[in-house]
Amino acid sequence: MHHVRDAIKKRRSIRKFTREPVSENDLAEIVTAGSWAPSGLNNQPWRFVTIISGKILDRLGELTRYGHILKNAPAAIAVFIDHEAMYNERKDCQAAGACIQNMLLATEELGLGAVWLGEILNQAEAVNRVLDLPERYLLMAVIALGHPADNDQTSERKDINTLILKKL
Ligand SMILES: Cc1cc2nc3c(=O)[nH]c(=O)nc-3n(C[C@H](O)[C@H](O)[C@H](O)COP(=O)(O)O)c2cc1C
Repeated sequence: MHHVRDAIKKRRSIRKFTREPVSENDLAEIVTAGSWAPSGLNNQPWRFVTIISGKILDRLGELTRYGHILKNAPAAIAVFIDHEAMYNERKDCQAAGACIQNMLLATEELGLGAVWLGEILNQAEAVNRVLDLPERYLLMAVIALGHPADNDQTSERKDINTLILKKL
């Protein structure tokens, strides 16, 4: 399992992409990885919209402060939970988080880069309108993805000794 821990630590948010398109096969692999996340009662509440249309990416880009990322990305995946598939709001949102993380890790393995966009949730209803989706689909995140323009991102984490509240 050594490789999983490496992948977890090496994954970085990628916000700049080359113009190279993302293949339909890669998008399907990423969605597949998301779909293998755990969910309460295995209810699999997640639903996806894959986007390669530059026009739609631009329109979504108008809905977030981080729009420049979407406007310059060759692809994105919008992740929703289906209200009709939900059984517990908190647990279903947690499942969506696990799903999104799986997708980020799969993206990395495919040699692509991605960033989890959450600020766009402030405009969730407008996102549904752009994607022509009814209200039953609740936006969880938009993942912008593509071939990384550079690979020199760094990030920091708190020391686990400051995070572990107690060792009993
Ligand atoms: C719930 C959530 C929302 C986020 N929203 C945004 C966002 O709107 N824009 C953005 O550029 N990055 C966003 N990020 C990415 C974080 O900024 C990033 O994961 C964090 O800074 C750690 O960097 P790393 O992913 O490279 O380890 C979001 C991440 C999460 C988990």
